[in-house]
Amino acid sequence: MSDAYSVPHPLTHPATTPLDLGAFPAGFAWGTATSAYQIEGAVAEDGRAPSIWDTFAHTPRAVDNGDHGDTACDHYHRWPTDIALMKELGTDAYRMSIAWPRVLPGGDGPVNAAGLDFYDRLVDALLDAGISPSVTLYHWDLPQALQDRAGESRGGWTERATAEHFAHYTSVVAARLGDRVRDWATLNEPLCSAWIGHLEGRMAPGWTDLPAAVRASYHLLLGHGLAVQALRAAVPGARIGLVTNHSTIEPATTRPEDLAAAVRADGHTNRWWLDPVYGRGFPDDMRELYGVELPDRSGDAEVIAAPLDWHGLNYYFPVTVADDPAGPVPYAREVPRPELPRTGMDWPVDAGGLEALLLRLTEEYGVRRLYVTENGSSFPDTTGPDGRVDDPERTAYLEQHLSACARALRKGAPLAGYYAWSLLDNFEWAYGYDKRFGLVHVDYATQRRTVKASGRRYADIIRAHRSQAR
Ligand code: IFM
Repeated sequence: MSDAYSVPHPLTHPATTPLDLGAFPAGFAWGTATSAYQIEGAVAEDGRAPSIWDTFAHTPRAVDNGDHGDTACDHYHRWPTDIALMKELGTDAYRMSIAWPRVLPGGDGPVNAAGLDFYDRLVDALLDAGISPSVTLYHWDLPQALQDRAGESRGGWTERATAEHFAHYTSVVAARLGDRVRDWATLNEPLCSAWIGHLEGRMAPGWTDLPAAVRASYHLLLGHGLAVQALRAAVPGARIGLVTNHSTIEPATTRPEDLAAAVRADGHTNRWWLDPVYGRGFPDDMRELYGVELPDRSGDAEVIAAPLDWHGLNYYFPVTVADDPAGPVPYAREVPRPELPRTGMDWPVDAGGLEALLLRLTEEYGVRRLYVTENGSSFPDTTGPDGRVDDPERTAYLEQHLSACARALRKGAPLAGYYAWSLLDNFEWAYGYDKRFGLVHVDYATQRRTVKASGRRYADIIRAHRSQAR
């Protein structure tokens, strides 16, 4: 083992812990991840129509500093540079999302050929560079036209029709890219779309409506299942997964009230999203807690539980809760953990949570192939006089979480790849551009990209693993 990996972990582990590279199997996918609205820009180009995020970001006070994705990282024009950066890092996989409103600007109806052409070129160029694309079909950018189409409910994901349109959009994309793309994910983090978008109001469409949120959660998972069917029909040999975000949930004390709050928070954050997908149905305790009739129909449960080839875990932070009877659903208040360091998002850092969740997905849900589809940290970076960006905290976060992956692998988690969030600094939703998650720094005024020290360290790790696994 090279000394390069015997680095101290200043965030949580003062002791020197070498990264156990031998735990990562040969063929392990080393990747980076992004999403369409966060990097592409070109929101009105080549026939793209607005998504709910264009609308939300242009709503006064919705996003810090009035930021929006109109230009973002200008990836729509600079993708060759960005692929060159992936090559520089030595990654062999790239998780990207397709913008539904580029492909079907009205949500359904006519296909926008120019939109599909963009992704076609991108996929070809990735493959030419030896980078395997993993395509996510929905990373929150619902066509605004569908949001505006109220039928049985309030429009958007509160409508069953949106799940059906999602399956149609999936088949359009699959028909075009399925001859070259093998790894597909239906949704990214449906929790955020449903809970943060419809219940907490901090993301598009910006609602605070529990019944709408529960309906949206249901239709997102139904849309996932219908999209799995569409992919299976269009792409023989496709490897299909779902990407969900989770946190470990700890009670703040051993008081029975706090223990019960932790069970509720776990239901809200974890079980609501995993149980139905793995054939257990929506958890009864949470159905009772929400008190909202599900818009279910006969046969839906089987559609939602369609067998998957892999599961994608997005992990950022652990959560500790106390009972909060007067607070919002799920009546569990997050309690600070002063002993843990925090990132620039004010998120506590505990890599042990990643290990625990990988093992939970393996042991409790029987997942047979796993990816860490997102993991990373935001810190306020500074560019040195020499133009370099030294980011020791992000580097430590990366190493600690890769160590957690190694521990989970040693304990039997079938982890096949790791996608660092994110390739580039980008539009961090309601936080705008101030929060930087990239392994590559972006100067938004010039669009100049600079690989940060964390990116260079990731490249070293990948190189070391390759030479060891050879
Ligand atoms: O930037 C987001 C991403 O779009 C979804 N997962 C969490 C990231 C960091 O907040």
